[in-house]
Amino acid sequence: MCGIVGYVGRAERTQDHGAIDVVLEGLRRLEYRGYDSAGVAVLTDGGVASAKKAGKLANLLGVLDTAPLPESRTGIGHTRWATHGGPTDLNAHPHLADDGKLALIHNGIIENFAELKTELLAKRATFVSETDTEAAAVLLADEYRNAADVEASVRLTVAMQRACQKLEGAFTLLAIHSDLPGVVVAARRNSPLVVGLGEGENFLGSDVSGFIDYTRRAVELGQDQIVTITPDEVVITDFFGKPAAGKEYHVDWDAAAAEKDGYPSFMEKEIHEQPRAVADTLLGRNDSHGKLTLDELRIDESILRSVDKIIVIACGTSAYVGQVAKYAIEHWCRIPTEVELSHEFRYRDPIVNEKTLVVAISQSGETMDTLMAVRHAREQGAKVLAICNTNGSTIPRESDAVLYTHAGPEIAVASTKAFLAQITASYLLGLYLAQLRGNKFQDEIKTILTDLAAMPEKIQAVLDHEQQIKDLAVSMKDVNSVLFLGRHVGFPVAMEGALKLKELAYIHAEGFAAGELKHGPIALIEEGQPVFVVVPSPNGRDSLHAKVVSNIQEVRARGAKTIVIAEAGDEAVRQYAEHVFYVPATSTLLAPLLTTVPLQIFACALASEKGYDVDQPRNLAKSVTVE
Ligand code: F6R
Repeated sequence: MCGIVGYVGRAERTQDHGAIDVVLEGLRRLEYRGYDSAGVAVLTDGGVASAKKAGKLANLLGVLDTAPLPESRTGIGHTRWATHGGPTDLNAHPHLADDGKLALIHNGIIENFAELKTELLAKRATFVSETDTEAAAVLLADEYRNAADVEASVRLTVAMQRACQKLEGAFTLLAIHSDLPGVVVAARRNSPLVVGLGEGENFLGSDVSGFIDYTRRAVELGQDQIVTITPDEVVITDFFGKPAAGKEYHVDWDAAAAEKDGYPSFMEKEIHEQPRAVADTLLGRNDSHGKLTLDELRIDESILRSVDKIIVIACGTSAYVGQVAKYAIEHWCRIPTEVELSHEFRYRDPIVNEKTLVVAISQSGETMDTLMAVRHAREQGAKVLAICNTNGSTIPRESDAVLYTHAGPEIAVASTKAFLAQITASYLLGLYLAQLRGNKFQDEIKTILTDLAAMPEKIQAVLDHEQQIKDLAVSMKDVNSVLFLGRHVGFPVAMEGALKLKELAYIHAEGFAAGELKHGPIALIEEGQPVFVVVPSPNGRDSLHAKVVSNIQEVRARGAKTIVIAEAGDEAVRQYAEHVFYVPATSTLLAPLLTTVPLQIFACALASEKGYDVDQPRNLAKSVTVE
């Protein structure tokens, strides 16, 4: 949600790449975080030069083609997901203050912007936009003027510290001032910011993709910190000027991982990377005797043994992972497991204590709702374990334990490979808890680990038959409503299938628990209504399969056009389906790793057929860093 880049380099380095090149390349990679507008500002001999434009980055590039900015070694750039003020040129960042000598960009929300604005207006400040950000820019300029007695080289840093003491809300701020060539000052509270370390140059980014072309050395910053970068130095303090240290880490993926690699979209590429994402998430996590080893969790085993309740908190697609995890964990561990949307959990009084394990699932590790829920849980004594895909991000840093998924960078805004990797990690967690607690499922654990190991190959087998589902998507491009049904772990899969279709193809779609249908939603069924049904294995538990087959018949009897995702060899469903898509056989609990894939392909293909941008669907942004 808003992408931010900053760069400083020595003059001689700018012959290799100037600030504009670095900042624009960073924005290109960070555009998935928001694409309502984009803007850049650089320091030149004459002061601050800037350009900004509503719409995608391409619009800004058009502006810069006709009116290029001068070469520079200090620059900042922003790609916006609008919160306060519409997506217009005027509301785009950077915002200028101090008579155009200071430029500031922002990710987050300044909650007390109205009060600040009133105070600053009383001091005869002027505002030109409708944004909350401009209040921060004008405040920073005010503090800069007030810090006239401070040594010149740290004046902007001190002004930023003083401004941050007055700001409420969530923010990453980056600022440059024409008095200080070769300096970018940044601040963060509840919003992401990473430093990239170079040779004679340094970088800032909302995440490492902002500078991955130039360095793999990154520094994670803590909460409420200010960082000042020059070509040769990175200085970190808290909001009161007290020196602080960042934690350096190596970025273990390269720039190529964030390229499309011949696929028409990142989404298609990421769907096809799922066998790898699952394999990498499993890698190195069980020993040669079929025993799980999750030593990396950095949480005392005795704590995990004493857990008597699990609450999964997450949003969107990650919350559907939680639903799958609930079925698995309750079955394997016999620990009561609840799943709650982070933003709902946070605003009630959940009953948690030191025996509660809260599992926070987040691809980005920056989702504000989940971060706040993590803090809410910890304040009440619960231990928090994060399942996360992004090294060095805030949620794992603020959790007691972390289990990383290894899906690699997910660039398409709608999640696909992270979903499968998160499900895999949830299974590992469930199996690990069962193993630790020595319950009666010990033999089953070994079998499941063997089944899991076979998953990458089975997912590949689903992908090998993608044309069938793509053809179906093309034939359905004009539908205006699609329903998805599932039971047991098929229920969250149905909801995920519906979410993918909504967000990619802008088609009304709903996922229902198949058993719930007759309690209301069946009224929606009319002649020709497309209904996807996720059918469990006929060899699975109790009468689950039979029940879902009955549900197919119920909707068919009312005119629905049924599209069935079933296990290979399940001939019983064929007679009730307009279309059947078979996936390889597996145990009931693991099936989501396979049954989700055709639904992702369907949504992606249908949206592409309609000519939509599947990587950057309208109104969305990856990494939702506002509440
Ligand atoms: C949907 C999607 C979102 C995210 C949600 C949580 O395709 O990607 O629903 O799953 O915003 O994001 P993370 O997992 O980063 O916390």
